[in-house]
Amino acid sequence: MTDQPAADATARPNVARMYDYFLGGSHNFAADRAAADRVLEIFLFPETGVAAQTNRHFLRRAVRYAAAQGVRQFLDIGAGLPTQGTVHEVVRTVAPDARVVYVDYDEVAVAYARELLPDVPGTAVVQGDLRRPDDLLAHPDVRGTLDLDRPVAVLLLAVLHFVSDADDPWAAVARLRDSTVPGSHLVLSHLTLDGIAPELAERGQAIYRNSSAPLVPRTHAETLRFFTGYDLVEPGLVETTRWRPDGEPELVDSHGYAGVGVRR
Ligand SMILES: C[S@@+](CC[C@H](N)C(=O)[O-])C[C@H]1O[C@@H](n2cnc3c(N)ncnc32)[C@H](O)[C@@H]1O
Repeated sequence: MTDQPAADATARPNVARMYDYFLGGSHNFAADRAAADRVLEIFLFPETGVAAQTNRHFLRRAVRYAAAQGVRQFLDIGAGLPTQGTVHEVVRTVAPDARVVYVDYDEVAVAYARELLPDVPGTAVVQGDLRRPDDLLAHPDVRGTLDLDRPVAVLLLAVLHFVSDADDPWAAVARLRDSTVPGSHLVLSHLTLDGIAPELAERGQAIYRNSSAPLVPRTHAETLRFFTGYDLVEPGLVETTRWRPDGEPELVDSHGYAGVGVRR
């Protein structure tokens, strides 16, 4: 990174920039890389970089799926740094008129998103917090870009596992659901540590306790609850690589669940 934000914004590991590092991006700082390397070293996610790519592959498949169903509006919450195949780039190959709003609560991620994303009509970058869905949905740039009287695909990829149970992420997702019309989609991926030794899981979570957000892996049943009020499309909520594979090579178990639902 060349444009340096204030030092205090870079001293603490930041989950958006750690993820950028896992993806092989350059929008990260020493503290982000050190924390990310420690995650790799303890073998919690020996293939974390590949798992992050696997998550992005799911995003591409799911966005194209929603577009094929006729959805033309996308609300990408916890969008992160727009370094790898942004939603509007993916969707506009099949639906050139698609409108996309990128939301993140992290001011550094938002600042870089505004800098890196070209000024494309029909897209917006908004600073907003998933834990406050009403404020997020009321933002003038959300209202100015999306028509909530028409179907919207709400994208929640690799973000809900940064929201603790105490903040009731299920209520936030239900609020988003209730603010969209039937036919809207929920595209979701979520970290799980099902099958991981508890001691390794704890060591990994300890690293995130000193970062910008806690790490909250969830079980299949806990993740499935986010789809209340949605009909899950086939094959349901599954390990990320198993969601409608399109032949793109997948190298690793992603430690994630992924699914797409259609609002009833
Ligand atoms: C691992 S990245 C995922 C990026 C992208 N969605 C993807 O799947 O490739 C998680 C992002 O969620 C953001 N985030 C975490 N908690 C959030 C919240 N409560 N509201 C909005 N964004 C949040 C972080 O700042 C980070 O950019």
